[in-house]
Amino acid sequence: MSVQGKEFGRTADGRTVTVYRITNKNGAYVDVLDYGCTLQSICVPNRDGTLTDVCLGYDTVTEYEENDGYLGAFVGRHANRIGKGEFVLNGQAYSLAVNNGPNHLHGGLKGFDKVIWSACVASDRLIFSHTSPDGDEGYPANLMMSVTYCFDDSNTLTLIYDAVSDGDTVVNFTNHCYFNLNGQGTGTATDHLLQVNADAFTENDGDCLPTGKILSVEGTPFDFRTSKPIGRDIGADDENLKNGSGYDHNFVLQGEGLREVAVLSSEKTGIVMTTRTTQPGVQVYTANFLTYRGGKNGTRYSVRDGVCLETQHFPDALHHENFPSVVLKQGEEYHQITQYAFTVKEENEV
Ligand code: GAL
Repeated sequence: MSVQGKEFGRTADGRTVTVYRITNKNGAYVDVLDYGCTLQSICVPNRDGTLTDVCLGYDTVTEYEENDGYLGAFVGRHANRIGKGEFVLNGQAYSLAVNNGPNHLHGGLKGFDKVIWSACVASDRLIFSHTSPDGDEGYPANLMMSVTYCFDDSNTLTLIYDAVSDGDTVVNFTNHCYFNLNGQGTGTATDHLLQVNADAFTENDGDCLPTGKILSVEGTPFDFRTSKPIGRDIGADDENLKNGSGYDHNFVLQGEGLREVAVLSSEKTGIVMTTRTTQPGVQVYTANFLTYRGGKNGTRYSVRDGVCLETQHFPDALHHENFPSVVLKQGEEYHQITQYAFTVKEENEV
């Protein structure tokens, strides 16, 4: 594995953004920006051996700065929604920016996706670090973080998140990569097959905020325990699907520790992406709000042109005691791992 950095562009206020290419011995590679620790490209072989970019992104810093959607970004301090941007911790009330209807989304107005991180290249990994100051976007305590990327010779991309704080705070990190295993910019991803090891999902209200209810997937369009095309049930007459304008839900993952949680695949290219994580949930998001826009290399993106598998703690966990806690105590070490492993299958292979 080798890592090479070069200038990607400049922010509106003149700061340099660097792109780091992590190449493995097969010539497959991942491009990552220090702006938001953003996964800008993931180029892996299809069943013919041709490198295929399976990650949506942009060619310029300006597009990353100006567009919504969090393409490829590292998200924090708290991924997804916190109801009304309010919470109480140790008896003290905190108020965060409300940037998504009545709620707080993905860390606020300037989340970690909009920060230029310090980069350090070690022999087999790329490590970004950043300290978020006490009061950043309204969150308490100084938070010292590192985000590590590895891309090994078996075409497995590993994301490692570490954090420690000098006071009690909340932490829920994710990555917001939009995958299209047919190749980025080739249109809809609803033909992809998806399998998720989840017997249940968290119910949402009309603002995509969990109600606190955990529902069984049995007999619903949310049953991905056996692989099925994402588009098969996406238009079903189902209140939860309508609330998300498609899939935009947290699935309650079986098991604990680093385990396989989902498999996404394309019949067209044969590319299979196996997701493993230490996290308790995954937000399956079918790019329902990805409005028409330009993408990399002159491509165009629109609604449903990618699928995000955002491994995470459950959204709005601060307001639901039945959800795993997102509180990080002073001095405690936060550590989460997610892997996206790329392999290929032959035509019609199950
Ligand atoms: C997802 C979220 C969606 C939408 C998207 C960003 O994680 O669940 O509702 O906000 O991020 O466009």
